[in-house]
Amino acid sequence: MEIQMTAAPVETIETDALALVLFENEEGQEPPPLARKIDRLTAGWIGDLYASGEFKGKMLDTALFYRPSGLRSPRLLVIGGGKAGSFGHAELRRLAGAAARMLKGKGCRSFALTLDAPFDAPEHAAAAVEGAILGDYETDRYKTQDKDDRKPLDRELVVLTAVTSGHEQAVARGRILAESQNFTRDLVNEPANLLPPLVLAERARQMASEYGLECEILDRERMAQLGMGALLGVAAGSQNPPALIIVRYKPETPAPDGAHLGLVGKGVTFDTGGISIKPSDNMEKMKYDMAGGAAVLGVMRALAQLKPAMPVTALVPAVENMPGGRAQRPGDIVTTLSGKTVEVLNTDAEGRLILADAITYAKRLGCTHLVDVATLTGAIVVALGYVNVGVFSNNDEFRDQLLAASKAAGEKMWPMPLDDEYKEMLKSAFADIPNVGNRWGGAITAAIFLKEFVETAPWVHLDIAGTAWLEEAKPYMAKGPTGVTVRTLARLALGWNG
Ligand code: BES
Ligand code: MN
Ligand code: ZN
Repeated sequence: MEIQMTAAPVETIETDALALVLFENEEGQEPPPLARKIDRLTAGWIGDLYASGEFKGKMLDTALFYRPSGLRSPRLLVIGGGKAGSFGHAELRRLAGAAARMLKGKGCRSFALTLDAPFDAPEHAAAAVEGAILGDYETDRYKTQDKDDRKPLDRELVVLTAVTSGHEQAVARGRILAESQNFTRDLVNEPANLLPPLVLAERARQMASEYGLECEILDRERMAQLGMGALLGVAAGSQNPPALIIVRYKPETPAPDGAHLGLVGKGVTFDTGGISIKPSDNMEKMKYDMAGGAAVLGVMRALAQLKPAMPVTALVPAVENMPGGRAQRPGDIVTTLSGKTVEVLNTDAEGRLILADAITYAKRLGCTHLVDVATLTGAIVVALGYVNVGVFSNNDEFRDQLLAASKAAGEKMWPMPLDDEYKEMLKSAFADIPNVGNRWGGAITAAIFLKEFVETAPWVHLDIAGTAWLEEAKPYMAKGPTGVTVRTLARLALGWNG
């Protein structure tokens, strides 16, 4: 999609649709200048619209006018922003996405979103662009029919009161972030037959060579030499060989603090549960069990272009969790790369096993700070539903930095506890640690398990089981992969917390 900004008067703008944000009418409030101007140009449509009671300005309320008088665009989309007092970049991002999706469904190929003060700062322009790029995204790659209303948009125009270099910069970054998030969504959208671990590795390699990043793939033999018994145990049941994907970004002049960020993403290309097999209902969804791995690859794609001062290494342990004659069994004991032994009580708790080895390896590669991203537990969905990413950490300062980045990115995340008492639930009679606790606090015991392998490095664990996949389409986003955490983690690496 082509993106342009302009400060031209709205009546001169020619696109397939002009979109105007209107808020809930607060008693005695003057409508914003742009709304008054369009009301004047259209001989009172806006006033009539409110008076009709059909449109109240609630978040994502819409009304579409054809051939608006006084305007050169053939359509005027009026879209609600809710209460002006609680409107910010996060709301604008969704609103832009909803406008994009609605208008493309009407056959529009271009649209202009008009932003009036005080919602015309660089961060707003960037959110308008991010929202449109994310909203334009479709998951219909494998549909051969009925794609007419899903043609991508050609152009978005952001209409501002003034366009500054700050706007140009913010929009350029927003575009990179949103396109990288869509890159992640593309990977997650792939079915498991078409994206086994080695194909995921190949896609990472292609991306890395396109953007000038280093890429290294460790194969089964190399991992066996190193002693990654936990990762290889999970891979044992599948005919599709595993891979440990490593992508490196090295800044030209690294910041002097010596910090090196490691991003570890769970890359289970399909999770049947293994011998502890899952029920067949909804099992098809488990193709998204590599969403964490896809997210960290999306972050690297963005960072290659945005060039932070900090070195960043992404590690994606990629495996398929299958039952089979060679699959690992409940009760098996594996030796991890760290030397710790794990009793595999449940082969469906495979994510933490592969992450344990990848986290140990990340530390060996010199990472000083770690973030892992994983569709790790059904329990996080019980705790936080589909709304918030679960955030676990051994370091309050690092966690707060990450939460600040998530706020700035407009991705909802919520802190979860990690008290030592929970460790009592992870006791094995036969090995150093079991891979599962009991039924309660399952998202927390999973995080506690990971913490045993992180040891002392500042670390954040993001459980995205509830947020990486949208069960129902939203007005601003297609059903399916969301690409969550890409914008937050890119901002964290760049230090853009404001
Ligand atoms: N990939 C799943 C987690 C998951 C479950 C993601 C549902 C999305 C929706 C993970 O590998 C898993 O199976 N976890 C088990 C752990 C249990 C065996 C302790 C779970 O959450 O049921
Ligand atoms: Mn599982
Ligand atoms: Zn899993």
